[in-house]
Amino acid sequence: MPKVTFLPANETFEFESGKLPYHEHGKPESLLDVAINFGFHLEHACGGNCACTTCHVVVKSGAENLSEEDDDEIDRCETAADYQVGSRLGCQAVVTGDVVVEIPAWNRNYISEGGASILGDAIPPPKIRSISAE
Ligand code: FES
Repeated sequence: MPKVTFLPANETFEFESGKLPYHEHGKPESLLDVAINFGFHLEHACGGNCACTTCHVVVKSGAENLSEEDDDEIDRCETAADYQVGSRLGCQAVVTGDVVVEIPAWNRNYISEGGASILGDAIPPPKIRSISAE
């Protein structure tokens, strides 16, 4: 059962792979999906569509337990404030094992104040992932 720890809050959430209900924000079982399932606020202004950087996190351990970055994530993540080694987009990084991530300081105060998405109800629909039998 993968465990995700969000710093600096030091909140850890454990889930059974393949059993997490999907809430249509980001990739299923992404860091963002885990956060939403457990009621932990991780900003996601674009609704998990790899179109902003508000879900930016920095991986502190367990990078090997996250999905590989695709070109879209790399291109977007490189535009994030405070981009650094270990930077990932929470909506794109799918969890396969234990991982510890830190929410960058620029986004932390907003979260600690209990902010909701800056887009409110105007969040666009998520990208549709399709599975093709090739
Ligand atoms: S929520 Fe916008 S890129 Fe992740």
